[in-house]
Parts: sequence; C-alpha cells; structure tokens
Amino acid sequence: MTDRQPLNAPLYEQILRFVDRHQAPFYSPGHKGGRTLPREFRERVCELDLNNLPDTDTLHCPTAGIQAAQQLLAAAYGVAHSYMLVGGSTAGNIAALLSTLSPGDSVLVQRNAHKSVIAGIVQVGAIPIWLPPAVEANFEIALGVSAAQVEQAFVRHPHARALLVLNPTYFGTTPDIRAIAQLCRAHGKLLLVDEAHGPHFHFHPELPTAAEDVGADAVVQSTHKILSGLSQAAVLHTGAALDQGRVQKCLQLIQSTSPNFAIMASIDLARLQMVTEGRALLDRTLQLAREARDGLAAIPGVEVLSPAHRLGAGSGFRELDETKVLIGTRGLGISGRELQTRLNRDFGVQPELGGSCHALCIMTIGNTAADVVRLVDAMRTVAEGCRGRRLPDLAAGARALLAIEPEVVMSPREAFFAPAATLSTDAARGRICAEVVTPYPPGIPALMPGERITGAVLAELRAVHAAGCPISAADPSFATVRVVA
Ligand SMILES: Cc1ncc(COP(=O)(O)O)c(C=O)c1O
Repeated sequence: MTDRQPLNAPLYEQILRFVDRHQAPFYSPGHKGGRTLPREFRERVCELDLNNLPDTDTLHCPTAGIQAAQQLLAAAYGVAHSYMLVGGSTAGNIAALLSTLSPGDSVLVQRNAHKSVIAGIVQVGAIPIWLPPAVEANFEIALGVSAAQVEQAFVRHPHARALLVLNPTYFGTTPDIRAIAQLCRAHGKLLLVDEAHGPHFHFHPELPTAAEDVGADAVVQSTHKILSGLSQAAVLHTGAALDQGRVQKCLQLIQSTSPNFAIMASIDLARLQMVTEGRALLDRTLQLAREARDGLAAIPGVEVLSPAHRLGAGSGFRELDETKVLIGTRGLGISGRELQTRLNRDFGVQPELGGSCHALCIMTIGNTAADVVRLVDAMRTVAEGCRGRRLPDLAAGARALLAIEPEVVMSPREAFFAPAATLSTDAARGRICAEVVTPYPPGIPALMPGERITGAVLAELRAVHAAGCPISAADPSFATVRVVA
C-alpha cells in the first residue's frame, strides 16, 4: 500500500485531506499536529503503541512506569493521587461520580454540565439537583454558578453529598472556585470539578485558579485538549479524603484493559513539559493570545470576550482563561457558525467551534505568531464583507427557559432504563422525558431524562426553535420527543 494512491478508506482519506490543508489550528488537541511533542515521539509513535507486557506495566494495577508517572503527576499538580485516563475527561467524570456517590445519593450539579456527567449520574443512579448557570447575553454563552447560589443550595438541600461544577466552561470562564471550595468544606460536601479545559491553570499565575489548588476532592482534566497529550489523554486527580481503593475499582470498571501506551506516554511528556518549561511556554501563549485579542478587537464590528467582561468575586464568571479567544459576531451580523465556515473554507483558519453569535479559538503552547496573523488578517477581510447585517437576539428565549424550574419525576437512571416511546411534541405534554433536550444558545438543557415535559417548557422550546435556535435532541426538528412509555 503506497501512501497517496486513492484508497477505499473514506475516513483515512478525509482526515488526510484535512491535514494536508495545513490550516491555522485554533482547535484541540493542544499539540496542534504534533508541534509541541518531541521529534522522537512523533517519529516513533507507532512503535510506542504497545500492550500490557511485563516490561511495559499495566494500567489497571500499575507497579512500574505507569505507577511512577502517576506519582510524578500528583507531585506536579500538588495533589494526593493522580490517575492516567485513556478515555478522555468523559472517563474521568464518570469515575469521579462512581467513586464518590451511591445509588440514591443527591448531587448538586451545574445544569450545563458535559454529557459525560449525565452518563455518570445514570451509571451511579444518583439524584441530580440542578443549578442554573448565569448566561452572558452578548456572546450567548452559559457561564458558571455563583458562590451565593451554591450556599443557598447547600441550605435548601442539606442531604446532598457532593457538588459538581465546571472550572472552566468551554469558553474559558471560571466561577469563584476558591469560595465554592470553602463553602464545600464548611458544609461537609465533596467538591468534584470538571476541569477538562484547565490542565494548564496550575502552571501559570495569570491563568485562572485551578481547582486542585483550592482543595477540590476530584478534578478531571483533558491533557489532550490543552497540553501535549494525544486525543483521549486525560487525568483524574483525587484528594486524600477519597477512598483510593474505590477510585481504582471504579476506574477498572470503565477503562480499557488495552490502553494505548502512546496516549499514556504523551501524558507523561505533557507533565514533564509543564514542570520544566510550562511557565515560559504559557507566558508566550498568553502573549500571543493577547496579541490576537487586541488585533481582533481593533476590527470594526468584532468583539472578543475579555477580562473586562468578568462579573467579579463570588460570581459565576470570576476569572477568564485568556488563551481561549471567543470572537463575538453580533456586530458583524453573521452567526459564529457562518464565521467558522468562512474562516475554514476561504482562509484555511480553523476555529474549534461556531455558535449562534460566537466562534471559539483555542490557543495553546502549539500556536505560533504566524497562526495569529492568519486569523486576524482573515477576520479583517470577513468583517469588511459583512457590513449592515443584523443578528436576532436568540438568548432571550433561552433565558426564559432557565426561569422554569424543572419538575423531576424520576431519576435519570430510572428514565434511562424505562421503556421509551417517541411521541409528537404535542402528545408529549405532561409525559416524562427520556432524553436530554438542549437549545443553542446557550447550551443549557431544557429537559433531562426523568423530568416532566410541562406545557410551559414546551411553549418556550417551540418559541426558541421558531426563532432559529438549533435544538440538540434525538429529533433536532423538535417535531417529536422521546418519553418514558
Ligand atoms: C466541559 C467538558 N467536560 C468534559 C468533556 C469530555 O472530555 P473528553 O473529550 O476528553 O472526553 C468535554 C469535551 O468537550 C468538555 O467540554
């Protein structure tokens, strides 16, 4: 098989076409096509793809290199224990919930949690008590929960065993994680943190506060999203309060018995890189991100989420990871989705995602000054071509949805395993939802499995759909919905 003959291998060929375009990479993984990985690693990555052998160690019961690498990870992040994950933060969130909760336990959870959190809740059989996050109206993004909200929830739900929050959101905003950690200690609650997008926080003082630095009990990080890990590389950090035997047992429940050793080796290298030169590398990344921010914000019609948008101490938006460059498209009158398409198609610049009125560029230690020049130049040209257009305010309807308190009828686990039926949305009124229904913006579920589909929720969902909000659900047209039969 030679390299470039046409093959009947559609996925492989599709990926090669993408790679061969050499786009300016503003997406994850953080190594940006291997730029941040040592040459030896890049050249020998297939040789590193090994199995559990006497000389390579075993992820499920490590005694040699994996164990030593995990101990170095714990020392690097200043935590009691660290575990390598080969199933991304998805595996970490599920393991964190399985390790800390039992069937029937209540857990306070930020409503815009990642789907892996729902997966963990279903697997444990826990009862979620949802906390609605704040919403940033101009960029139409969901933020975090405030310390005051958390305190009220602890008073209202004294039986809740744990709290799970994001630090940061996909967009780089963080809540007051220090105040939240203090509240958890004061009320005797476990703090579980989805820090999928924050494995670099610990290594630079100008990045937001890391949850592991304020004593969270479990912290999940995607090494692959931001640092030099290969895709699926992630880490679960745990504090001394957790039963480590149980954590290991839960990890064995969900991790492969054939972990990819190249992934694990990349976690080891990413840790070494951060410990030895992380400060300098992140200095440079922050500087480049600030240059990008300044260059973009100088373009008429373009807004960029900046530290000036923060809401301050105690709020759901206390700090901003400036390496996340969130471009607001409202002033251009085009959607973030259209912007993402144009940047890719016409300029070879690839953002991570495009939403209703924002496009997210993820900058890491793998980005270069040339990438920033390509992004800013492209944006200048796009902006010149879209004068005088207007975007509707889609977040208003979604905010109305947030004001409706969900009526929880059964646990997500019961709803997940119950017989289900697909009904027209009209016929579904009053029934129990069997799926997650999320309007974008702002990406906060309006319905979760086990919740009553009330007339009020239906009316608001129909209104936002009619206004042009995409709905993430089994039927994106929202003509039908899955209900418990
Ligand atoms: C906030 C958050 N948590 C968890 C995950 C899951 O991470 P992974 O893709 O590493 O499994 C994601 C993925 O995008 C995420 O955005």
